[in-house]
Amino acid sequence: MDLENLCQALPKLELHAHLNGSLSMDTLKKLYKMQNPNSKSSEDTLMSIKNFSSLGECFKVFNIAHSLTTTPEAVFHSTYDTVKEFKEDNVIYLELRSTPRAIEGKMTKQEYVEAIIKAFEICKTDFPSILLKLLISINRKQGYKAAQDNIELAINFFKKYPQYIVGLDLSGDPMTGSTFLELLRKARLAGLKIAAHCAEIYQMLSHLSHVPNETETIDILKFKPDRLGHCTCIHPTLQGSSKLFNLLLDSKIPVELCLTSNIQCKTVSTYESHQFKYLFEAGHPICLGTDDKGVFHTSLSHEYKIASSTFGLKQEQLLKLCLSSVEYTFATLEEKQALLYEIEKFSKECNITY
Ligand code: IMP
Ligand code: ZN
Repeated sequence: MDLENLCQALPKLELHAHLNGSLSMDTLKKLYKMQNPNSKSSEDTLMSIKNFSSLGECFKVFNIAHSLTTTPEAVFHSTYDTVKEFKEDNVIYLELRSTPRAIEGKMTKQEYVEAIIKAFEICKTDFPSILLKLLISINRKQGYKAAQDNIELAINFFKKYPQYIVGLDLSGDPMTGSTFLELLRKARLAGLKIAAHCAEIYQMLSHLSHVPNETETIDILKFKPDRLGHCTCIHPTLQGSSKLFNLLLDSKIPVELCLTSNIQCKTVSTYESHQFKYLFEAGHPICLGTDDKGVFHTSLSHEYKIASSTFGLKQEQLLKLCLSSVEYTFATLEEKQALLYEIEKFSKECNITY
């Protein structure tokens, strides 16, 4: 089997996907038509999604998706289509994450989350090969009150739907806002898992020096989230970052790596210099994710293919990457065993020994 087919056929686990960033052009067009039944110009309006050149610009792109997911019906269709596309890419476990939004007169945060769960329920019947979980996101930019509301919402939904709601995600524009660690502690006490975006950007100290956002990064590492996202600026070759790199290795916290996302947002300059290389070589727990497959025009298969061709990973190493991701999921023990079984079955069918 060639690399492309192997990466496509591998039973994969997606642990870092934001709902509104994952919407494909087909889904966006469908949502646009739902919102503007008489308009013929969806292409032009949506084309701007392709044109961005920095992390800041990428955040503007989310506004387009958000402008189309303003009703429970739109959130339902977004979720259903996204699950279907991941399933078609042979993803067997999807941990979707999303920031609940209230839209005056149209949708409450509660209804937003309910629409995702309703879609999950239907997907469970329509696509039984994919196991679904949801992390409720906290957008750092939206401030303390919104974070508090989302955590309360997550705790309540966790009590009602523990099979779907498994944790919290700390995300949003890293150039603004706080990390709300004391609020996350409360969520953890309630039994929720925590995935935190970490060290995505440099802090500008003066016009001469950029250093990793060290204090915040150390605070997050000390808090010990269950998983970390990106850790782009914790890089052994970057000025002022080797202390953080050692702290990260000592922490043994699994890191979700999204290669194309970091390249397209220009937070990493080349695939070859991506932190994947250093974490992989150090044997640190890592998994691959798409982040925003719609925004970055990628798929999980494609991310596996890039990792393999850039870092020379052999078939058995790709398989091991899938297998080890199982341990980092927020699934139950029984669910983890079922996922391991699927991957091992595939390895036997393809004669890949590891
Ligand atoms: P949503 O939470 O389903 O609305 O998905 C889009 C949101 O995910 C964005 O508005 C951001 O808050 C968050 N997001 C997506 N990609 C990134 C990233 O690379 N870093 C931080 N936050 C992100
Ligand atoms: Zn992300």
